[in-house]
Amino acid sequence: MIQLTTDERIQNVTQSKPVILTGLRANNDLHIGNYFGALLPLIDLAKTRSEEFQINLFVPDLHSFTTPIDHSALQADIWNNLRIFAAAGLPLDNPDIFLYRQSYVSAHSELAWIFDCFTGFGELSRMTEFKDKSARLGVDHIGVGQFNYPPLMAADILLYNAVYVPVGDDQTQHIEFTRNTAERMNNQFGDLFVIPKSVKEQHEFFGKDQGLRIKDLVDPTKKMSKSDESGRGIIFLGDDPDDAAKKIMSATTDSFGNIHFDFEKQPGVSNLLQIQALLLNQPLDETVRHWEGKSNYGDFKREVAELVKDFLINFQERLKHVDDSQLTAKLAADEIAMNEVANATLYKVQQAVGLRPQ
Ligand code: TYM
Repeated sequence: MIQLTTDERIQNVTQSKPVILTGLRANNDLHIGNYFGALLPLIDLAKTRSEEFQINLFVPDLHSFTTPIDHSALQADIWNNLRIFAAAGLPLDNPDIFLYRQSYVSAHSELAWIFDCFTGFGELSRMTEFKDKSARLGVDHIGVGQFNYPPLMAADILLYNAVYVPVGDDQTQHIEFTRNTAERMNNQFGDLFVIPKSVKEQHEFFGKDQGLRIKDLVDPTKKMSKSDESGRGIIFLGDDPDDAAKKIMSATTDSFGNIHFDFEKQPGVSNLLQIQALLLNQPLDETVRHWEGKSNYGDFKREVAELVKDFLINFQERLKHVDDSQLTAKLAADEIAMNEVANATLYKVQQAVGLRPQ
């Protein structure tokens, strides 16, 4: 049971170790792309290197409605995320790990507004995600929140001076945007922010898990994404394990009849190889070598399907045993500590831009 006082938490957070931070939105259930792309790299680090780093994991709840959602489900989704973090192995009793909800730290929204005013309209218009969505849906069907969430994400990262930010490949552009924002503000106002490491340096630091892009099982040219409507191409962490195995068995492959890793020519087979390597916690090369030259897609899919099924059975068993009272106690202490840190950064920025006296 966690029994830390607020003062102790504030003290822990001001010991100023380099910060590693990530956030996972609470929209729908999380899927294996979120799990392997962002959550697991952070948790692996939290388990092995929290002596050297402070680890921040948060639910970016304000990001949840950049696209329309069922607001009556948001609280349940936020708690589902928090429980998933615990079930994935986040060591809740470790004093160097901080867990919080974005909207409980109001400095995020305030700093995002300041960043908005230092961000070019053109710069945000060129963001791939915005460009794709506006081309697909038309600008009249996209909220301003979808357009300008990169400055909010930059605030999420820069408020805590995070150095490393484990994310999937789809967030690469946002990390670059965050670095540009920090550099621009620092150039104009002096050293306000720590600039997060470049994406290349982050990949080197995290190794195999970083820059991942798990693909949709039905259309393996697209990334696996929570917003996909049918759900047939996605393995959600809450999927019935047998249904998930069936999704793997009916995953789109190709007619080459040759198990070979090549995302360009054989995206479906390559995606399954990737998933198998992650589930076995094995270097991708090793998985590829094991299958190279073999041709029976049925056997291959059956193996991956079994692994997915076992993984979900174990994960869901752990999820059942998460203790909500532990999470509640941790959030209460950590959100106070995070407000301290975030408000101190915000105050420096407010001074720099003239909103507070020097
Ligand atoms: P979100 O919530 O869509 O996704 C959470 C994390 O999962 C990764 N991810 C994937 N990785 C591999 N393969 C996939 N198919 C896949 N799909 C998603 C994402 O890259 C992400 O790392 N804007 C962010 C949330 C956020 C954030 C932050 C992250 C808000 N503020 C600050 C880091 C730091 C987002 O929408 O991720």
